[in-house]
Amino acid sequence: MRKKLVAGNWKMHGSLQANQRLVEAVREGAAPLRCDVALCVPFPYLAQVSGLLSASTLGLGAQTVSEFGQGAYTGEVSVAMLKEFGCRYVIVGHSERRTLFGETDQVVADKCVAALAGGLLPIVCVGETRLERESGQTQEVVSRQLAAVLSAVGVAGLANLVIAYEPVWAIGTGLTASPAEAQAVHAAIREQVAALDAGRAATLQILYGGSVKPQNAVELFAQADIDGGLIGGAALVAEDFLAICQAAN
Ligand code: 13P
Repeated sequence: MRKKLVAGNWKMHGSLQANQRLVEAVREGAAPLRCDVALCVPFPYLAQVSGLLSASTLGLGAQTVSEFGQGAYTGEVSVAMLKEFGCRYVIVGHSERRTLFGETDQVVADKCVAALAGGLLPIVCVGETRLERESGQTQEVVSRQLAAVLSAVGVAGLANLVIAYEPVWAIGTGLTASPAEAQAVHAAIREQVAALDAGRAATLQILYGGSVKPQNAVELFAQADIDGGLIGGAALVAEDFLAICQAAN
């Protein structure tokens, strides 16, 4: 049995005051749970949330990271910096990074390599747009995105990496992939890895993301190849986020 992971992606939300309340509530509610829980917060709040999580088992994560170690990269943040602030996870290749900030498959792969080399656990996002789904290209797109990461980190790199399938059309839209639609893509991801290494495929955690709510989490997480979730909007409401964590428990 693979352990489940529920990771909250706050995106560009939060304030010192709101974070304090949210993290305290999540920390208490999640304490008795067996699944892994992580919070991926904006860079300026890493120190605050790291402090709030210090005596808990919840993991801290960032939402992106530079593929470069250090140097003249104005505005970027390195793996080593995230490690200094207690990060265990980093989201890599979120569709918003790919679409709005031009991250290519190669950049995403380079970021994974940097994260793994520095001891961070990448949560690598893959997923198709609505147009790609409608034109029957879902498997092809997801497979291409995964292949770029695989060829950079090798199948052995998957030991310390989590995949998140996030159909772009389901993010923040209230539209969710049906449990069967999501399961089909998750199974295909696992098969692609199994073709290289069956053992690695069996232990790989594959999260689903895209309008996960307390109302649909139980059914999604009950699918054979769905090992938890990457949660956007619902991660900003302690009660909802905790209900989703319960569903993964
Ligand atoms: P929503 O849960 O708001 O749809 O966001 C999903 C997401 O993008 C998580 O990374």
